[in-house]
Amino acid sequence: MNDTPPPDLHIVVLAAGKGTRMKTRRPKLLHPLAGLPVIEHVLRTARALDPTSITLVVGYQAAELQASLAGEADLRFALQEPQLGTGHAVLQAEQVLGEARGTLLLLSGDVPLVRAASLRRLVDHHRETRAAATLMTAIMPRPYGYGRILRKDGVITRIVEERDATPEQRKVTEINSGLWAFALDGLFDALRALGTDNDQREYYLTDLVQVHRKAGSAVETVLLEDPTEIRGINSQNELAEVAAIVRRARNDELQAAGVTLVDPDSAYIDVDVEVGPDTVVHPNVYLEGHTRVGSGCEIHSGARIVNSEIGDGVLVRNHCVIEDARVADGARVGPFAHLRPGSDVGADAHVGNFVELKKTVLGAGSKANHLAYLGDATIGEGVNVGAGTITCNYDGTHKHPTVIEDGAFIGSDTQLIAPVTVGRGAYVAAGSSITEDVPAGALAIARGRQVNKDGWAERKK
Ligand code: UD1
Ligand code: CA
Repeated sequence: MNDTPPPDLHIVVLAAGKGTRMKTRRPKLLHPLAGLPVIEHVLRTARALDPTSITLVVGYQAAELQASLAGEADLRFALQEPQLGTGHAVLQAEQVLGEARGTLLLLSGDVPLVRAASLRRLVDHHRETRAAATLMTAIMPRPYGYGRILRKDGVITRIVEERDATPEQRKVTEINSGLWAFALDGLFDALRALGTDNDQREYYLTDLVQVHRKAGSAVETVLLEDPTEIRGINSQNELAEVAAIVRRARNDELQAAGVTLVDPDSAYIDVDVEVGPDTVVHPNVYLEGHTRVGSGCEIHSGARIVNSEIGDGVLVRNHCVIEDARVADGARVGPFAHLRPGSDVGADAHVGNFVELKKTVLGAGSKANHLAYLGDATIGEGVNVGAGTITCNYDGTHKHPTVIEDGAFIGSDTQLIAPVTVGRGAYVAAGSSITEDVPAGALAIARGRQVNKDGWAERKK
């Protein structure tokens, strides 16, 4: 009977390097990539492997990186200070892994496209062959910049970095992906045997191949089928290219599930966004964060929807900004509407052009069709908010609530000076400045009375 538990899998993510070519203050691994920081893509893949532990080797801008990952309790950190190369970086994991046994899977924080299935293949091969180290390689038609795999009689003998390679070696198209599996047993001792005899005077992890070969330990390789997976992010250019790959993959999934993307290349949909079938997304739409869009919706160009919940059959016309808001089934929004955080638009409600909502509930079937600011308001069902209505919710120090009950009618150009309540079914005359509550069913008129002076114009001449 063989019921031994699966061997331990310790994942180490290298994240200490400087990322000089980004030319930004923001750490390279914290740049957003289709809605998630670069490093989060790697961590998601790592977690998909159900590892025993995940350790990040941090160094350059370690404090920023650790602060941004502080909420993720499953992560451990090893500090590499100073950063003396990839071999030195892996050795720092000893601080955390100590006497751990099993397999160490090495990932790079700036290589976010690698798939869990490819990593499983690497780990499986490594365990089956009982190698000391197993390296993922790939064939790159243009291998510039990568470490080249040198073989003798088919067996890997050495990895030579671009800058250390001869012109002949540079012609080799099989490259080191930087993804490795190691037997933890003896790994750190082998790393301590690395030297710095290279152009950068660094401890190269790649030299482990020779260390193991000298010791008579097996080094295996696994060839990655799709080299796209190991695309790294070193520059703004690569960040944009990799982001386009991530977006395209998510867009493909959405299309396969019945979402119409009129122009997939300009549908900027973050990885965690959900969109229901029969929804049409026009060009240049941004769906960001944890946004969920229902089915049968139409989202027109220029809309940006962030962390919001959009129901079924919703029409979002051009150039709306919707953030931390909810829009219920059948509602219509825009063009040029701004739903700020805490906005809650009810079923079949209408929010028209140049209407701004903030922390405001607009009840089912209610309409605010033109030029309004509704802040800190609770508006019932079937309410008509006239053009130019403003809730004066701020007295310079405090915010105050406005309540408009079901079926009320607010005439155009009304100011509702909060705190104030307009009762059920009440009317407010156009141009009113409402400072006192309006009882249900009443008509409130609060404006200067009109005076007509007959013949005034003729007399003025
Ligand atoms: C490395 C490999 C190269 C391979 C390439 C794949 C070595 C010596 N070279 O080269 O064979 O083709 O990756 O992308 O291993 N890092 C640290 N601490 C350090 C140095 C690097 O944490 O002291 C991290 C970096 O943040 C990065 C990773 O290690 O995540 C790789 O470092 P990088 O400088 O990009 O290595 P390459 O020169 O590209
Ligand atoms: Ca380097």
